[in-house]
Amino acid sequence: MKRRIGILTSGGDCPGLNATIRGVAKACFESFGEENVQIVGIQNGYYGLINNIAREMDASEFSGILTQGGTILGTKRQPFKMMTVIGEDNVDKVKNMKQTYKKLKLDCLLTLGGNGTHKTSKLLADEGLNIIGLPKTIDNDIYGTDVTFGFHTAVDIATDAIDRLHTTAASHSRILFCEIMGNKAGWLTVNAGIAGGADVILIPEIPYDITKVAESLTKRAESGKGFSIVAVAEGAFDVEEAKMKKKERAKKRSEAGILTATSRIAAQIQAATGIESRVCVPGHMLRGGSPSAYDRILATKFGVHAAELIKNEDYGKTVAMVNSVVTANKLEDIAGLTKFVDPEGQIVQTAKKLGVSFGD
Ligand code: F6P
Repeated sequence: MKRRIGILTSGGDCPGLNATIRGVAKACFESFGEENVQIVGIQNGYYGLINNIAREMDASEFSGILTQGGTILGTKRQPFKMMTVIGEDNVDKVKNMKQTYKKLKLDCLLTLGGNGTHKTSKLLADEGLNIIGLPKTIDNDIYGTDVTFGFHTAVDIATDAIDRLHTTAASHSRILFCEIMGNKAGWLTVNAGIAGGADVILIPEIPYDITKVAESLTKRAESGKGFSIVAVAEGAFDVEEAKMKKKERAKKRSEAGILTATSRIAAQIQAATGIESRVCVPGHMLRGGSPSAYDRILATKFGVHAAELIKNEDYGKTVAMVNSVVTANKLEDIAGLTKFVDPEGQIVQTAKKLGVSFGD
């Protein structure tokens, strides 16, 4: 009897998904013998599981994808909060997913994704399916793991963007604001900010006071520095907004016609300091292209560990890196939790000790 292993990638894509898929497949072929394994690729994440869009994959499909960005399986956002809600289409999504798993005769299902994906993974594990999660996201905000694959590649890309902004900022004596992805957590911004030598770093975990941001930039200009770089997480908000609920904050911003957090900050800073300001939003560039060497190695280690879990029939878990060792957490211990940047932690304090302002 062949082992039938389902794989899906869910949520926003990131570099390293294919490297992980390859790692799992090759380690399974090695461990069980290629003839004893059938990998079943589920298309477009949980959408494919709900709608039974899946296919048996040939071993050759896992070659040549180590360096390839995106995901060969396709992906889709399928919000967790709607999973148990039966909508106008009358589809019972949980029932369908269980049926597809059964129809495909899967021994287990690997779910590669971020926080939302892990919540649904836990739901499916609670429903009796054999689930193994793998932590992907450029946001690095999955609880219980030091790092997620995709994150370091995005740090490299964001750092390169900041590096490039330096020369144009210096030439024009401007303040250049770089908006970096991360709605809830500022890991990407704080890391790229430090690596790129940003002068101000604004993240959701530390609500900023715009007056303090302006003061630090004015002080820098008065000390003879001809330009400044500000790294802003897309989810950054100020001290007044910190008192509001997320929905209220979003409503207020949309009423005020604010397109992005950074465009408003740049306008406020230009008005307060008199220094010409510009905004750069690398956006989805941060998720595109080939994974870095670090992420290829991490994805491979994670994939190989997932194959070990399959071998041991150790389900209901998600692969993780804890204190630099690859291991696995129980889904029930991590699903629904977010790993935030600690304002008192080493990474923020390192930047602060260099004189970087967080606007607090
Ligand atoms: O989850 C990763 C992420 O890139 C976030 O940093 C960002 O807020 C979001 O996805 C963007 O989502 P989408 O690709 O659906 O616009």
